[in-house]
Amino acid sequence: MRATVLATGGAGYIGSHVAAALLAAGHQVVILDDFSNSRPEVIDRINAIGPGRAVLVRGDVRDGAILDALFGAHRIDAVIHLAGLKAVGESVEKPLLYQKVNVGGAVALFEAMLRHGVMRLVFSSSATVYGMPERMPVTEDARLGTTNPYGRTKLAIEGIIDDVAVAHRDFAAISLRYFNPVGAHASGTLGEDPRGVPNNLFPYIAQTAAGVRERVRVFGDDYPTRDGTGIRDYIHVVDLAEGHVAALEHLLRGDDVEGRNRPINLGCGKGTSVLEALAAFRRAVGTDIPFQVVARRPGDVPEVVADPGLAEQLLGWRAKRGLAQMCADHWAFQRRRMRELG
Ligand code: NAD
Ligand code: UFG
Repeated sequence: MRATVLATGGAGYIGSHVAAALLAAGHQVVILDDFSNSRPEVIDRINAIGPGRAVLVRGDVRDGAILDALFGAHRIDAVIHLAGLKAVGESVEKPLLYQKVNVGGAVALFEAMLRHGVMRLVFSSSATVYGMPERMPVTEDARLGTTNPYGRTKLAIEGIIDDVAVAHRDFAAISLRYFNPVGAHASGTLGEDPRGVPNNLFPYIAQTAAGVRERVRVFGDDYPTRDGTGIRDYIHVVDLAEGHVAALEHLLRGDDVEGRNRPINLGCGKGTSVLEALAAFRRAVGTDIPFQVVARRPGDVPEVVADPGLAEQLLGWRAKRGLAQMCADHWAFQRRRMRELG
C-alpha cells in the first residue's frame, strides 16, 4: 500500500522524522511548511536519507489558495497535520496567536481536505490534553482538561475533528497524543535545534553538555516521586515517527475507522525522573553535566506516563528504543550542530 501523504509542518522536529519514516516505508511525501520554526535545508537532509524525495510546498497552512493548489497538483491520499505553534509559555503570553495559528490552521486545512475529498487524517495532539492526570499510567479514556492556552488549542482541534467525523461519515482520523519526544535520527542530520533558551529538559541538558549553558536547572526535588523530581515518559522521536506511519496505514486499511476520530497515546509506558535523565545523558556524553536544583516550574505536574496499550493493540506499534539510545542520538545531533556552527 503506497500512499501520497501531505505532512504539514514536515520540516519541523517531529515532522522531519515523520517524513523520513514515510519515505523509508515507501510512501510519497509532500511537505507544506512556512519555515516559521524550521529551516529549508531540512528538506535536503530528509531527501539525502531517502529513499525517494519529499516534495516541498512553501506556505502557510492557513492559506486556502495554497492548499487548493497543493491538493490540485498532487493526488493526496491522507494528511498528517503537524504544523503549529507549541511553546506553552509563549501561548500564555499570546493566546490569540495560538488560536489563530493552531485552530485557524486546522480549520483551513480540514476545509480544504473536504473540498478535495481527502478523508484520512492523522493529527499531532499531546499528552497536555490530560492536564493533571488522576491515574497513572494514563489511558485514552482519562478525563481531559488542560492548564494552558496551547493545550486548549489541542483539545479544541481534537473536538473539531470529532465533529467533522460525525458530519462526514467517510472521514477517518487518529489524534496521536504524544508524550515527551526526544532524540534524533540515526544519521545525525535530523534533530531538535530550538532557537534561544530551550524550554524542554533534553535540549537544555544537551546544550549544557556542549558548554552552551552553564548548568541544568532541575525544577524542584520535592515532588511525591521516587527521587523528588518530575517523572515523564520520554519517547525516541524515530519511534514516534514510526507510530505515525502505523496510524496512517491503519487508516488506509480502513477497518472500522470511518466516522470517528480515535485518540491514541504514543509513549513508552516507562517513567524517567529528571535526575535519571541527567544520569543517562551523562553516560552518553562520558563527562559530568553540572546541575542545580531550583524552585518548581509553575504548572508542572509530578508524573505523566502513558499507557501505550491501545497503540500496540490497534496499530501493532510499540516503542523500541530505550533511554540510552535517546540520549546517544540526541547528543550525536547536538555535537554535529556545534561542529556546523563552528
Ligand atoms: P516544530 O516547531 O519543530 O515543527 C512545527 C513545524 O510547523 C515547523 O517546521 C514550522 O515551521 C511549521 N509551521 C508552524 N506554523 C505553520 C503554519 N502556519 N503553516 C505552515 N507551517 C507552519 O514542532 P514539533 O516539535 O515538530 O511539533 C510538531 C507538532 O507536534 C506540533 O503540532 C506540536 O504541537 C505537536 N507536539 C509536539 C510535542 C513536542 O514535545 N515536541 C509534544 C506534543 C505535541
Ligand atoms: N525540567 C527541568 N529543567 C528544565 C526543563 C524541564 O527540571 O530545564 C523538568 C520539568 O519540570 C519536567 C521534566 O523536566 O519535570 C520535563 O519537562 P519538559 O519541559 O521537557 O516537558 P513537559 O512534560 O513539561 O512538556 C512537554 C512539552 C509540552 C507537552 C508535554 C506533554 O513541552 O508541550 O510535554 O506532551 F504538552
